[in-house]
Amino acid sequence: MDFRICGVSKLLFVYYLCLFAGICLALPESSNTRTSGTGQISSNSVLVALLDSHYTELAELVEKAMLLQTLEETVGKHNITIFAPRNDALERDLDPEFKRFLLEPGNLKSLQKLLMFHVIPTRIRSEHWPSDSDSTRKHQTLSNDHLRLARPGGERTVDRARVIHPDSVTRPDGVIHGIERLLIPQSVQDDFNNRRSLRSISAVKPEGAPEVDPRTHRLKKPAPPAKPGSPPVLPIYDALAPGPSLAPAPAPGPGGPHHHFNGEAQVKDFIQTLLHYGGYNEMADILVNLTSLATEMGRLVSEGYVLTVLAPNDEAMAKLTTDQLSEPGAPEQIMYYHLIPEYQTEESMYNAVRRFGKVKYDTLRLPNKVLAQEADGSVKFGQGDGSAYLFDPDIYTDGRISVQGIDGVLFPLEELELKAAVKTSQPTKAVAKPRRGKLMEVACRMLGTFGQDSRFITCQ
Ligand SMILES: *[C@@H]1O[C@H](CO)[C@@H](O)[C@H](O)[C@H]1NC(C)=O
Ligand SMILES: *[C@@H]1O[C@H](CO)[C@@H](O)[C@H](O)[C@H]1NC(C)=O
Repeated sequence: MDFRICGVSKLLFVYYLCLFAGICLALPESSNTRTSGTGQISSNSVLVALLDSHYTELAELVEKAMLLQTLEETVGKHNITIFAPRNDALERDLDPEFKRFLLEPGNLKSLQKLLMFHVIPTRIRSEHWPSDSDSTRKHQTLSNDHLRLARPGGERTVDRARVIHPDSVTRPDGVIHGIERLLIPQSVQDDFNNRRSLRSISAVKPEGAPEVDPRTHRLKKPAPPAKPGSPPVLPIYDALAPGPSLAPAPAPGPGGPHHHFNGEAQVKDFIQTLLHYGGYNEMADILVNLTSLATEMGRLVSEGYVLTVLAPNDEAMAKLTTDQLSEPGAPEQIMYYHLIPEYQTEESMYNAVRRFGKVKYDTLRLPNKVLAQEADGSVKFGQGDGSAYLFDPDIYTDGRISVQGIDGVLFPLEELELKAAVKTSQPTKAVAKPRRGKLMEVACRMLGTFGQDSRFITCQ
């Protein structure tokens, strides 16, 4: 999307883009307000100057990050100072992996934060730099992090980056200074490092997994030789004659604020387990690619929450159509529907469906629930064509995160129905589960991060 046209047209373009993606619905209805009358943006604005300047790489990133509206609002209230890295700093000098990271849709928040780190909501001209080489001046940026202006050896710097074109552009509402390189806030650096370490996990070579037939609970192929003392490969209840226990399953609940777990390590651990287990590479790949999802899961677990992941195996994932995956936010939405905010093991789920017939579990794809029932001596999720069997039970269970392998990809029934026919909405049975309030709130925040496909989400 390389639109090299005049500044004002670009603003309009972004406005329509927003509407199309269904993201920026809070924008004013009429485009007139953007260009005249009450609109804050004047053709003499530093923002218009930025879009038309030779800092084309930065201007393009600002557009990609959908930040123009925010910046327009800011220049409506304050003068601003923009530190603009020269084009080469963004084109050639930037680590390609870092650039790719910034441009992935799931990392929009990181990109926005990075760009806002280059804007200070006051007017700082070259004469406002500290005058002696010993002092520094701290300024809060729009990302809330601080930048330090200094003048070591007489040369102006911002966070140790050289200012190569002071007062490169000056307008009534702001100033642009050209700088030699990109400024990277610590939090964005951390997000990126986190993603890197997740990626290094996926470099692990997957191994073949023993396959258990869910109907017979027998291994489909001989198990590899087990080391002495290693846990049984068959589902635990196969080892318990004569049949599954009907006792209620004790599953640990949220640990409360005073507990602290290393959720990030646990999430890495289970992704690694998935890879070693074999047959779940697609799922592991998606978790690694959607950094924000893995990070958020780690955060939830660190806060003492528990999660059950219904992991579709590779065979199931291979059946997904390009259509199903190419809609905006589709991979995220699919993943959220496979995350249950409870700790469930094969045993606890099997016991529940044996006792109650059908059980509905909440998912992080609000407000959709996933139905589980007993079928063929196993647990079956979903309904009709879209159902999946519990195929590889208890791939990973550490008391906080449980991973259960399933042989299909699940979609909410509501969505299937909505697509099949335009029906008047029916009242759905709501089961009050107040103790999950905060988790749901976090889930809403997660969904908000992507800001897409909000038709089925009742987050306020
Ligand atoms: C921006 O700075 C100029 C020059 O210092 C000043 O005249 C103007 O009022 C400022 N604008 C805002 C919105 O503060
Ligand atoms: C994850 O990212 C890698 C590299 O960017 C890509 O090759 C792979 O197809 C992605 N996987 C999924 C499931 O999106």
